[in-house]
Formats: sequence, structure tokens, C-alpha cells
Amino acid sequence: VAAEPRLNVAVLGASGFVGGELLRLLSRHPDVGVVRGFSESHAGNAWGAVHPVLDHLDGGRFEEPNPRAAAAWADVLFLALPHGRSQGVVRELAAADCLLVDLAADFRIHDRERYERTYGPHEAFELAAGFVYGLADVAAERLAGARRIAVPGCFATAALLALHPFASRGVVGGEAVCFAVTGSSGAGAEPGRSTHHPFRAHNFFAYALGGHRHEVEIEEEVGRWTGGGPPCRLLTHSAPLVRGIHLTARLPLREPCADPLALLCQAYGGRPFMRVLDRPPELAAVVGTNFCHLHAALAPGGREVIVLSVIDNLVKGAAGQAVQAMNLALGLGETAGLEFPGVYPC
Ligand SMILES: NC(=O)c1ccc[n+]([C@@H]2O[C@H](COP(=O)([O-])OP(=O)(O)OC[C@H]3O[C@@H](n4cnc5c(N)ncnc54)[C@H](OP(=O)(O)O)[C@@H]3O)[C@@H](O)[C@H]2O)c1
Repeated sequence: VAAEPRLNVAVLGASGFVGGELLRLLSRHPDVGVVRGFSESHAGNAWGAVHPVLDHLDGGRFEEPNPRAAAAWADVLFLALPHGRSQGVVRELAAADCLLVDLAADFRIHDRERYERTYGPHEAFELAAGFVYGLADVAAERLAGARRIAVPGCFATAALLALHPFASRGVVGGEAVCFAVTGSSGAGAEPGRSTHHPFRAHNFFAYALGGHRHEVEIEEEVGRWTGGGPPCRLLTHSAPLVRGIHLTARLPLREPCADPLALLCQAYGGRPFMRVLDRPPELAAVVGTNFCHLHAALAPGGREVIVLSVIDNLVKGAAGQAVQAMNLALGLGETAGLEFPGVYPC
């Protein structure tokens, strides 16, 4: 029996944190034949010089970016570029046949006013309608056969996975408030004041109190499930961690919900990366993995549900979810290349 042909896969922005995770996951994916990493800043260097965990992949070298040539060669092209940079590349590749998976915010939002209010002008907004929002653990059916995928933001992933079982059943009766805590890798590889070790290592602070930009994608996706509302506030905090998001959602109830844990189990039963726990989850258990661990409880008085969700921002919140979305789009095994536990303690 002839073996199935294996995929050619390319990553643009391959020297960044998300790009490195993509190289790590794709280089051991059973359906991927060749992975190429393209990098403006590191063309010619070995992958291992930037991403030391890839040092054993002796042949891996960053190449000079050429989006057209990469798209012509690749079956799947991942864009791990900063916000605002994907739109020009996607416009240039509008006619490309390959599956395009974008990890920036450029094509996550379908309402132009909502997008531009948050991110400013967009040079190729007309192409956004062709993108499927790749919340892989919820949108598996919509992803089947997709050719353009916008991978959700990391906070949005943690929040939407917590909200979905409740919002999609109409039990949320008012503004949902998500208190989220993130590690420094969420801000990318370029050091900044909020990520530099002396400011971060023994510190804890809130930011974006006026409205974190992921609120708009949460609003749009929840609106798709419910036909509008409820609104969601995202309160973001930086903690002395490198990886991971711990999110606590308070959901006011429209109607009684006697057993929120059972509702989580119903929503995610059989979903391979969704683990519903009978106790509050711990972040270290998901670091380095594509899993989301969840727990829910009724608050005293019974008028609100507390939902906890933890993910790794670079795996479930970015590269892992992107690979899962690729698997679903191409009809591969959903878990292919993603079936590994983390390291614990980490
Ligand atoms: N970090 C996370 O937790 C996370 C989670 C979800 C989504 N995302 C999104 O994924 C994308 C990549 O994030 P990241 O954390 O990997 O960022 P990053 O570490 O800063 O990497 C971005 C890469 O983009 C390339 N690049 C091209 N033009 C650039 C420019 N003008 N300025 C800076 N970099 C430029 C660079 O790679 P080359 O030099 O190799 O070309 C750079 O390494 C972003 O859109 C981000 O919002 C990140």
C-alpha cells in the first residue's frame, strides 16, 4: 500500500516565540514531510541558534522570507507575524492555493468597525470574511475544509473555552467578567519594560484596564453563539511566570444552573484536549501542552457561576491550536502531532 503523501509546511516569522513553537510541533507531526522556517532577522542561522530546544534538528536553518515562493511550495503556510503584518502578506497571497493559518489578530474579526476601533486601519479587510475563526475545540465542524484560518488570541481562547458551555445555552444573564493572569511570553520575544526580568520576576500588575483588545474577538464569537451579548470584560494581569494563562470567569446567571460542572462535561465530553476537573486546575499541569483544564462551581447564593480555565498561551493559545485547526481543516487526525503531556513540576 502506497503511503499517503506527507505535507510541505512553511512558517513565516519563524524566529519568534510562536514561530518556534510551530517548528517544534510541526517537526514531529506524523503527517508533515518537510518544514521550512522563514525569518527576516535570522536568515541563514540554524533553528537551534534561536530556539535551543530544536538544536537536535541539525538540518533546520532559517531562510530568507519570500511569501509567494513559500506559498507556491507549501501545502500549509503559517503566519506567525506581529499584528498588522499579516494583512499585507495575505493580500499578496490572495490567490494562493495553500491552506493559510494566521496567528495574528488581522483576520479574526469580521466586523470592520469593531476591528478598526481596536487595531486601526486594515489594508485588506475584504479578505477577512474568507477566514474561519479557529477556536478548534468548539468550531471543529466549521474548520472542516477551511482554506483560511484565523487562530484566536491566547486570552480569547482561555475566555471563550470557559464561556462557551454557558453562553451557548443562554444561561448567562449579564456581563461576564474574566480575571486573567498571564506569563511574559505572551508579549513575544522582543524584550520590553513589562517583560524584562528585573521588572517582571518578582512582580504582579494589571494592564489594559480600559479594555483589552481581545475583548472584541470574544464579543464577536459570543455574539455568534447567542445572537448578541452578553458582554464580556477581560481584566488582564502580568504575573512572574514565563508561560501560561490562568483565567477566572464570573458569570451572572439568567436562570438557575444546579450543576455547572455537569454542563462543562456535557459540552466537552469526547473533546480530546478539554479536561474537566473536579477541583480547581493548576497552570503547571498544562504548560507545554495543547490541553485546557477547566473547573466550575456555583458561587454562594447560587446567582453566579465561577469557571476556571488554564492553558499554555504559546501552545493551546497559539501554535498548538493552529496545528489542531490545520488537522481539522485537512481531515487529519485531530490530535496528530499534539499528543504529548507537559513536564511536571515545571
Ligand atoms: N506570544 C503569544 O503568547 C501569542 C499567543 C497568541 C497569538 N500570538 C500572536 O502570534 C504572532 C507572533 O507572536 P510572537 O509572540 O511569536 O511574537 P514575536 O516573538 O515578537 O515574533 C514575531 C516574529 O515576526 C517577525 N517579524 C516580521 N516583521 C516584524 C516586525 N516589524 N517587528 C517584529 N517582528 C517582526 C519576526 O520574525 P522573523 O525575524 O523570524 O521574520 C519576529 O520574530 C503575533 O501576532 C501575536 O500577537 C502570540
